[in-house]
Amino acid sequence: MSLLPLLFVAAFTLLVVVFLVALNNNKQCRYGIPLPPGCPRRRLPLHWSLFNLSPTVASLSMVLRRLHHAHGPVVTLWAGSKPAIFIASHETAHCTLVRMGATFAHRPSSSSLLSSGVNGYGVNSATYGNRWAVLRRNLCSHLAAADIGGPLRRSVDRLLQSLDRAAREAADGVVVPSDTLRHAVFCFFAALCFGDQAIATDADDDDGGGLLKRLRGLHAEILSLVVQLDALHLVPSMALQVAHYLPRSWKLLDAQRRHHATVMALVRARRLWQQKMCYVDTLLTLRLGEHELVSLCWEFMNAAAKTTSTALEWIMARLVLHQDIQHKLWNDITGDGRRSTTTTTTCGGESRRSFAEAVVLEALRRHPPANYLLAHTTDRDVSSVVQGSAFVIPKGSIVNYGVAEIGRDAKLWADPDVFRPERFLEGGEGFSIRGIPGVGGGGGPVPEMMKMIPFGAGRRACPGAAVSMKVLLSFMENLVVHFEWKPVVGGCACACGEEEEEEAPAVDMSEKPGLVTEMRTPLRTRLVVRQHVRR
Ligand code: HEM
Repeated sequence: MSLLPLLFVAAFTLLVVVFLVALNNNKQCRYGIPLPPGCPRRRLPLHWSLFNLSPTVASLSMVLRRLHHAHGPVVTLWAGSKPAIFIASHETAHCTLVRMGATFAHRPSSSSLLSSGVNGYGVNSATYGNRWAVLRRNLCSHLAAADIGGPLRRSVDRLLQSLDRAAREAADGVVVPSDTLRHAVFCFFAALCFGDQAIATDADDDDGGGLLKRLRGLHAEILSLVVQLDALHLVPSMALQVAHYLPRSWKLLDAQRRHHATVMALVRARRLWQQKMCYVDTLLTLRLGEHELVSLCWEFMNAAAKTTSTALEWIMARLVLHQDIQHKLWNDITGDGRRSTTTTTTCGGESRRSFAEAVVLEALRRHPPANYLLAHTTDRDVSSVVQGSAFVIPKGSIVNYGVAEIGRDAKLWADPDVFRPERFLEGGEGFSIRGIPGVGGGGGPVPEMMKMIPFGAGRRACPGAAVSMKVLLSFMENLVVHFEWKPVVGGCACACGEEEEEEAPAVDMSEKPGLVTEMRTPLRTRLVVRQHVRR
């Protein structure tokens, strides 16, 4: 008789254990519908955004490639206790980002140090709602109304002069233009953010560097510290974590303080300049707090300059590697006096795309600066069917979109690894691609338009896409009209017409994974000033 209570306790404990195990297994499915396939037992150290995780992105892309190969275009990994869904299908991307735009317009909450610091009040980190809408509308209207012609001309002129000087001073004209290109793009966006006069502050000051150089240095310093601190969970022991964490967080706080002071110095200077409207002026009319103002300036400069300058370096690298394309581009730009930077419209109303635009689009397809969109999340469970299998994307999961994978999908693109701008001209498989899919609501365009999404799609798509395209076209065209960009093979420049040595690649096109996917080896090229410029 006395055994009965014991048996009852044992049976009850067993029931609880069975229930808990079942509950744990059920994390892999909701209402009987499974999560997308993946490796449920392997919990990768993911944060909400891949942008915060550069040390592990390289290994992650290999894991993902294997998973996609084994299970199809939608797979699951685990970020701590949250499922992280990875989408590499343009149809599912269209369905979730465009057709169900409002459901997938949310961002996961973040514990990242960037989000609690300089990035805390940005458009990208704002919860989908009123504040986000006001800030985003403000940014979009500023970019649409901004007169970019003047700052663009000044930045391009300064860039050409710097490269001219560098090529003259270098042996045989061989230069590594990466930093000069990046600085020119940074100065252009600084003019849009802080006013035209900001470019003038780039001259050396007492500290041996201009305000913009200092600001750019601070961006690099903060990003590098955030990446190191976000990788903290990879450090094996608690003691090491503390030793790793404390000095770096102190440095981060200090860098953020200096960043705050530099931005406010530019804002104060701006008030004296009294020029055409800049982004800071629009923010001042919104009556934001100082931290919000600084955070939004950080976001503007960070989102705009790093991505655009990275794209520019990839474009120029491609033109060095493919001399025939560079030649065709030069002919197209200079032929019959045309110096167009945009698509032209014929009398019939249909648009004819310039070869220059086709080159930029092909570079963005083949080398998207962001290999993944910023992470999205959903406000409810969403069921979907991919390749005949039903699955659920649970509410609150981290949803990542493989930009590079979609742009290189062999089902959408012929010879996807080949760099061929002609695919964006009439008759090519990319000709129909225009603008950003789904922005402006209304269900969005057909999935055909989602063959590449370097700027994202739907409500959270990049608000700077149109400006970036103009900047890339203008910089690229001017750089090609002014210089011949020649390959440097095996450490020595090849003169025109000489046979290239086969064994040494002229340009290393391998990628360095990170917040933005840069070239692993910065471009090295021989610059030759063109005849018509010399005259
Ligand atoms: C080649 C240049 C650029 C590339 C490749 C690029 C790419 C992207 C991508 C992939 C996203 C995430 C979209 C999503 O999560 O669905 C994004 C968001 C964003 N970008 Fe860009 N971008 C570029 C230039 C710019 C510029 C010039 C600006 C501003 C001046 C800008 C401001 C932003 C902002 C504020 C967001 C967040 C939007 C939101 O959450 O509502 N970007 N960009």
